[in-house]
Amino acid sequence: MSAPAVDAPKLPAVPEGAVMVTLKIARMNPESGEGQHWDSFQVPALPTDRLLNLLLYVKGYLDGTLTFRRSCAHGVCGSDAMRINGVNRLACKLLMKDMLPKDGKPVTITVEPIKGLPVEKDLVVDMEPFFDAFRAVKPFLITSGNEPTRERIQSQHDRARFDDTTKCILCACCTTSCPVYWSDGSYFGPAAIVNAHRFIFDSRDEAASERLDILNDKDGVWRCRTTFNCTDACPRGIQVTKAIQEVKRALLFAR
Ligand code: SF4
Ligand code: SF4
Ligand code: FES
Repeated sequence: MSAPAVDAPKLPAVPEGAVMVTLKIARMNPESGEGQHWDSFQVPALPTDRLLNLLLYVKGYLDGTLTFRRSCAHGVCGSDAMRINGVNRLACKLLMKDMLPKDGKPVTITVEPIKGLPVEKDLVVDMEPFFDAFRAVKPFLITSGNEPTRERIQSQHDRARFDDTTKCILCACCTTSCPVYWSDGSYFGPAAIVNAHRFIFDSRDEAASERLDILNDKDGVWRCRTTFNCTDACPRGIQVTKAIQEVKRALLFAR
């Protein structure tokens, strides 16, 4: 018996004010053996849409096999980092009003997986090497002695010392925009250093020297060439390169 025909979903009416956009998406399916190639889709876009809405349109109406990660859709979970027109962005934070040409000319937007991590399928990469580097810097509070009977007090001044680096959502936009990381994935990468910074400069933590030792390694902070790609890519506005410089300075003063 032949399989029942699957009807393509009916396309919704194009909303008033929408313009048609060509989405050129890098595809890769390890099961087909076809290798990486481009597929283009025509998608209606409103200025208020985020790029994620367009990807969901493709998946919902044009090609259900398109594979990408997303969860919160509000720039919080960090799961939809991708390379959009050659720049790392979160698809859910990129508003179409910033991508559509003012003169109404046709526009093509390219979407690729972030660079430097193995592609698993379409826009999904293997994040394990990224998280291995994160785990290696011990991104948790380390203390000795007995547990205090009340919370660990910290002054506002001390808390402000590492406020910026607490904002990291581990999206990998920074690490996968770093030319050093592209050329040699053994570099810890900016995201791991940001998360080490968050604890190195926490007055309640007692393992700063342990983390500094780890980052003094040949694959640590000294590999950074201060090109600022990471700072430009961070969707949370973290001063990534500044944090790396602060860790370098802490190492120099500890010598
Ligand atoms: S500043 Fe350093 S970590 Fe950031 S992208 Fe440049 S080389 Fe990489
Ligand atoms: S520092 Fe910014 S770009 Fe890097 S992982 Fe954290 S949130 Fe993402
Ligand atoms: S889907 Fe969560 S940050 Fe974009």
